[in-house]
Amino acid sequence: MTWTNSKDTALRERAMAVIPNGMYGHQSVMLLPDDYPQFFDRAEGAYLWDVDGNRYVDFLCGYGPNLFGYGHAAIDQAYVERMKRGDTMTGPGQAMVELAEALTAQVSHADWAMFCKNGTDATTMAMMIARNFTQKKTIVLAKGAYHGAQPWCTPLKNGVTPADRANQVFYEYNDVESLEAAVREAGSDLAAIFASPIKHDTFVDQKLPNPDYARRARELCDEHGALLIVDDVRAGFRLARDCSWSLVGVKPDLSTWGKAIANGHPISALLGADIARFAAATIYATGSYWFSAAPMAASLATLKLIRETDYLERTIALGERLRTGLDEVAGRHGFGLRQTGPAQLPLIMVDDDPTGAKGYFWNNALLKRGVYFHPWHNMFVTTAMTDADIDYTIEAADDAFKLLKAAGPLEPVAKLEFMHSLAG
Ligand SMILES: Cc1ncc(COP(=O)(O)O)c(C=O)c1O
Repeated sequence: MTWTNSKDTALRERAMAVIPNGMYGHQSVMLLPDDYPQFFDRAEGAYLWDVDGNRYVDFLCGYGPNLFGYGHAAIDQAYVERMKRGDTMTGPGQAMVELAEALTAQVSHADWAMFCKNGTDATTMAMMIARNFTQKKTIVLAKGAYHGAQPWCTPLKNGVTPADRANQVFYEYNDVESLEAAVREAGSDLAAIFASPIKHDTFVDQKLPNPDYARRARELCDEHGALLIVDDVRAGFRLARDCSWSLVGVKPDLSTWGKAIANGHPISALLGADIARFAAATIYATGSYWFSAAPMAASLATLKLIRETDYLERTIALGERLRTGLDEVAGRHGFGLRQTGPAQLPLIMVDDDPTGAKGYFWNNALLKRGVYFHPWHNMFVTTAMTDADIDYTIEAADDAFKLLKAAGPLEPVAKLEFMHSLAG
């Protein structure tokens, strides 16, 4: 089928009239190459169809939630069965207790669980609990790390006041001296150190945590009576069947979860150790949909697959097949790729591309061949992908490199320049 976008174009025009700027937030395609569709019709397994019927092998996986495939039968059956008996009720169902039991059994540092809807709910609660626990204010965070879209952490400054950002000190990820300096600056007011499980910031190469840095973060929290928070919203259960920092032998006091924990059904979680139980019990936190039973049932079914299948090894193998194949075709056409981070959570950028123009061109060409990649955000692998999907992707990449080579020098991408100026 030839690629068309007339329905998407028409919807975008209608959206402009009734939605600010037609779409907002991280799923706006405003900052993606020009042909990226804004609106989708269907998703199944590893595939996504836009409103014009174009099919893509989807390496964004809903920006993370799709771990076992869109529309996974067992997970969705659990969801539907629970929904039919009652979902958003006057109080929680039995599934809330069962899910807290399942997560605390799965995640080694966790003795208790709280549930909410979005990752930002969980990171915000973690911050409040740390402040309640210590009766101190200052939060130490890594520069450039994403923890959500509330005034205290949203990446753009519009609508945010200096008071919203008070009591925050920043350090460079993986840099022990910089972390120590930030803690010194917090002085006697340190409430928490926030850490992403890996450096998975946009636009820059991903980095695995250096174990010395992770251990030092733990020690500094212990020395100051502060809490260590690992934000596993994006990487949770994609790197390990436990908290991601179990891989470097460090247990946080709190960890935040979302995305993959229910394979796309709306639920997030905050997990904590006993030390923070009273502080957690004495903040006020709630939401109209936080206790809905059906996403909890879906999460229980997802956790069963996490416990009982080789999903993790499978996504690693798929990611490694992709990484090797892409390096090979890039080299064949005289290009280099910067493929960073764990293979199952890849960030793929074209090397020697200071303006981002080569990456935009290459990603757009992949899109036209039925592969949905992202030029500057890390991507995800789902167990629903097959080796054939990966090989198809590598062939599409081969074609896209041919076009990129033929295109010659490219103009800088104006929308990227605009975005960097906004972020300031
Ligand atoms: C590491 C991390 N923390 C927090 C969040 C916020 O999650 P949500 O968008 O569900 O509020 C995200 C979302 O991408 C994330 O990647």
